[in-house]
Amino acid sequence: MADIRIAGRAHDITPFHVMDILAKAKKLEQQGRDIIHMEVGEPDFATPQAIIDAGVEALKSGKTHYTPALGLPELRHAISKWYADRYGIEVSSNRIVVTPGASGALLLVVGALAERDKKVLLADPGYPCNRNFARFVEAEAMSVSVNCDSHYQLTANDIEHYWDDDTVMALVASPSNPTGTILSLQQMIALSDAVSRRNGHLVVDEIYHGLTYDGIDAQTILAVNQDGFVINSFSKYFGMTGWRLGWLVVPERYISVMDRLAQNLFLAAPTMSQYAALAAFQTDTLDELERRRHVFEQRRNLVLPALRQLGFDIPVTPEGAFYVYANCAKLVTDTYPDSMALCDYLLTEAGVAITPGLDFGHNNPQQHCRFAYTTNSERIIEAVERIAQALHKLQH
Ligand SMILES: Cc1ncc(COP(=O)(O)O)c(C=O)c1O
Repeated sequence: MADIRIAGRAHDITPFHVMDILAKAKKLEQQGRDIIHMEVGEPDFATPQAIIDAGVEALKSGKTHYTPALGLPELRHAISKWYADRYGIEVSSNRIVVTPGASGALLLVVGALAERDKKVLLADPGYPCNRNFARFVEAEAMSVSVNCDSHYQLTANDIEHYWDDDTVMALVASPSNPTGTILSLQQMIALSDAVSRRNGHLVVDEIYHGLTYDGIDAQTILAVNQDGFVINSFSKYFGMTGWRLGWLVVPERYISVMDRLAQNLFLAAPTMSQYAALAAFQTDTLDELERRRHVFEQRRNLVLPALRQLGFDIPVTPEGAFYVYANCAKLVTDTYPDSMALCDYLLTEAGVAITPGLDFGHNNPQQHCRFAYTTNSERIIEAVERIAQALHKLQH
């Protein structure tokens, strides 16, 4: 085999372990098995029709050229209006950068703010790509183990404890992937104060905003700190994962560097997606999204007690996103001693695919797994029954 010579940064980028589960699930499906997918981190709903129509119309009318690197001005204005309508705060469209997904926004923000030998504070468990983005720019990801006491979120105490002279930013997500937990307003204020006092940057990934339950409407960090950086996306709440469209809000003085980075890294976000997204804020689309949010909440209300009943320990009720991060310590056995083995067993025995904790960091991953309720209620009920049987078999 020819040797390959790649950069250390590329070598160190880790794959998603769930891909192994996915590959095995595909194989089982090819053999005729019925697999219930609860590993998928995207809504099962199609993109709302008005957005699809706007995308098709854009293509038909020749909107196939580049937009400005910072994004289509109309879309930047629409996002600015979204902050006024939804959060009651003023965010000038000049501060908004339209990006290829939240992924593009993360690349811009980490690329602009972190560098070799600088540190980025992250919550562990957390979104796996964040530490890889840090590695990609030669910075050091400082993963801080978080637990149920802080609702799996970084706290001001963590900042105090782990921030040193080389730390440049803290990157958090609320609601979080994989835990679905939300930063309260008080937590945001404390976190923001702690980071500001150290002259650092606070970046909040708000990609799951809109998907919150129990009457909670997560507030944006911009309501607390106009110097914060916000990552957001059309992927999750708006149901547009495949369109590759997100955005970044930065303090105005950082727009010029973001413009230069965007020009060089990807020129612009996809044009047809930007036109399509203009329909995302229409009343009929928002009504449809609200109906979907309600469905997600019902699914969470279904899956959460059922998993607890099965013996999964979920000490904090997830109030957002579409994930349940569950401790499976009580369910592992000598034959299946950790979450990776248990996930594999549940796939093979029960035909239910879930994500092992290993994908989300180093904080006790062998005792955790993530369930995504991105499948309908009937399938969730069936999944729970099948898991119950498989676990029963395991214990007897
Ligand atoms: C917390 C978080 N941030 C960012 C992303 C990337 O999303 P996008 O599809 O907008 O690139 C994801 C995707 O799962 C996520 O969970």
